[in-house]
Amino acid sequence: MKSAITLLAVLLLTAGAAGTGYCQSKVFDVDRDMYPYYPSLIKWNKSHAGFTPPEVCGECHEQQYEEWTGSVHALAFKDPVYQGELNKAVKAIGHDISRQCEGCHSAAGVVTGEIKKPGLAGLSPMALAGVSCDICHSISGTTHWQTPSHEPENGSMILTPGVETTEGGVLIKRGPFAPDEGCGDGFHQCEESSLHLRAELCASCHQVYHYDAHFPLEATYLEWKHGPYAQNEILCQDCHMVATETFLRSADTFTKPEKSEYHHYFNGANYLLYFLAEQAANKAGDKALAANVQQKYGMAVDRLKAAADLEITPVYRENRLAEVKVRVKNIRAGHNLPTSLTNVRQMWLELTATTPDGKVLFSSGTVDETGRLAENTRLFNSDGMGDDFHFAIDPWIVTAFSRHDTIPPRGYKDVYYGISMPDNLDSVKVEARLRYRQADQAVAEALLAAVPEDMDLETVYGIKEVPQLPIVDMVVVSADLAAVKK
Ligand code: HEC
Ligand code: HEC
Ligand code: HEC
Ligand code: HEC
Ligand code: HEC
Repeated sequence: MKSAITLLAVLLLTAGAAGTGYCQSKVFDVDRDMYPYYPSLIKWNKSHAGFTPPEVCGECHEQQYEEWTGSVHALAFKDPVYQGELNKAVKAIGHDISRQCEGCHSAAGVVTGEIKKPGLAGLSPMALAGVSCDICHSISGTTHWQTPSHEPENGSMILTPGVETTEGGVLIKRGPFAPDEGCGDGFHQCEESSLHLRAELCASCHQVYHYDAHFPLEATYLEWKHGPYAQNEILCQDCHMVATETFLRSADTFTKPEKSEYHHYFNGANYLLYFLAEQAANKAGDKALAANVQQKYGMAVDRLKAAADLEITPVYRENRLAEVKVRVKNIRAGHNLPTSLTNVRQMWLELTATTPDGKVLFSSGTVDETGRLAENTRLFNSDGMGDDFHFAIDPWIVTAFSRHDTIPPRGYKDVYYGISMPDNLDSVKVEARLRYRQADQAVAEALLAAVPEDMDLETVYGIKEVPQLPIVDMVVVSADLAAVKK
């Protein structure tokens, strides 16, 4: 009798679980009813109030539109590096995985089901606009605590562009302020949203997890949350939605910007994307856009140059110079340095020791004519591995990091270089450079070679082959070190 009851209980439990759409896993439970766009965790409150493309918002919000135009958010879907990787992902796993990617790179395109394959052909302005006005200002909440990892991940936000009324759909836009009378000019209603004054607004997209194994491939939000800037209430917005001088003040003094100091730049480190966008704008004869993205290129380089600092210290053994210690400090990035796609981005130290008459005694981290890095380079980034524990780069294969070597906010890493000083030398000149680029040359070439057919690089960007990726020197310092300790 007892066993019959147990059996009945088990049957009921199983039926109950199936009914709520739970995929039972010992670690990551996925509620398929809750997340209809899985592997994206985005949710959409569908009504007759649909999405509005940015050009329409721009008619009344000119300044925000101008600032957002040409930003990495505006380029998030058209980005050829993204489209190359997406194309590879769909070939490897199938169309389903593209929902995960697009939930962040073009959220409207995925919930409306408009995007059927990689590429740009035939898509509406709203889908092409990537992370546009009406994505952020339609976010009405998040499901960060119900996700499979119980953390923000893979677009875990709720989009509510408007509500149904007896007269049809009414648009509601959420923003940071208590609305005045007539806010929205009859086009939209306004709602005050404290979420827009929190980093949680950004978290849904800035915590990228493996589509199935829920490994955090990009963890910018959690790096920030567990660091000194979060503790001092300096948010993503306070560094990325402001001009360079304001960012320096937020980072150095932990003071929040004034209301009037916020701008829609979303400027980070990706100068390569602005470089490509400038090529495309020039090819299309759009001088205004070319100038716009050129300015954003400069801003990204300025942020990178402000992010870090270097310190050279000699190490003596038995009073003879034996090693050079270089301390690499993350002084102004609100998260680890580098962050996000750490298994693709490259930040490394180049060290050169020369004699007083200019002869190179030792070098590390040099780049050859083809853009390849020397074997002995000290990189600060990570290596991905697949579930076979072998090296991998693609985000549908990488389920863990075999090496994770980034620098925490306000933290540092020390690197030691052994030096064997010739007896006849009194001193040596040491120069250290912290250098950055978006990807390894070969990786960039492979991704750009994989772009969908309708994004031919020559037609759109006017480039026949992938140029050598520009490298930014974030910091350069040098010191003369005595051979014998004084
Ligand atoms: C949770 C949101 C999210 C998901 C899901 C996501 N991405 Fe991204 N992706 C981002 C963010 C944020 C960045 C920017 C990171 C940075 O700048 O370092 C990014 C950057 C990239 C880049 C680098 C672009 C460049 O110009 O350097 C590529 C390529 C890319 N994603 C491809 C994909 C593919 C393919 C998928 C699906 C398999 C995917 N992403 C899923 C948020 C997401
Ligand atoms: C990535 C998310 C995001 C995108 C994309 C975005 N906004 Fe915003 N917007 C915000 C946040 C966050 C604030 C609040 C900034 C602050 O703290 O004052 C804001 C503030 C605003 C405000 C209030 C006034 C101001 O400038 O602070 C307006 C109006 C606005 N946005 C319109 C737009 C328009 C128009 C677009 C598209 C051209 C756009 N936004 C794109 C996140 C976004
Ligand atoms: C017909 C003109 C018009 C259009 C089109 C328009 N808005 Fe507005 N919006 C306004 C006015 C007027 C206000 C009042 C405050 C101001 O002037 O910034 C406002 C306020 C806002 C605010 C601030 C809300 C707050 O209280 O913090 C946001 C956010 C916003 N709009 C987003 C958008 C977005 C996103 C779009 C496109 C989907 C859009 N608007 C389209 C006229 C418009
Ligand atoms: C104290 C200022 C500060 C805060 C706060 C901050 N950032 Fe950054 N962020 C930077 C700087 C400086 C860089 C450029 C150096 C780098 O790449 O880390 C950067 C770079 C980035 C990049 C580009 C990374 C790459 O290498 O491609 C992304 C994406 C980003 N931040 C997102 C965020 C998000 C999301 C938050 C909030 C969770 C945030 N940031 C908070 C200063 C800040
Ligand atoms: C709907 C998803 C989404 C939201 C919400 C979002 N982002 Fe992003 N963000 C992205 C994607 C996708 C990219 C990268 C696009 C690419 O590289 O192709 C990106 C890129 C960026 C970059 C540029 C990084 C670089 O390498 O230069 C910054 C800075 C940034 N986001 C800041 C923010 C901030 C601040 C917020 C919150 C106010 C926010 N984002 C909200 C999806 C989002």
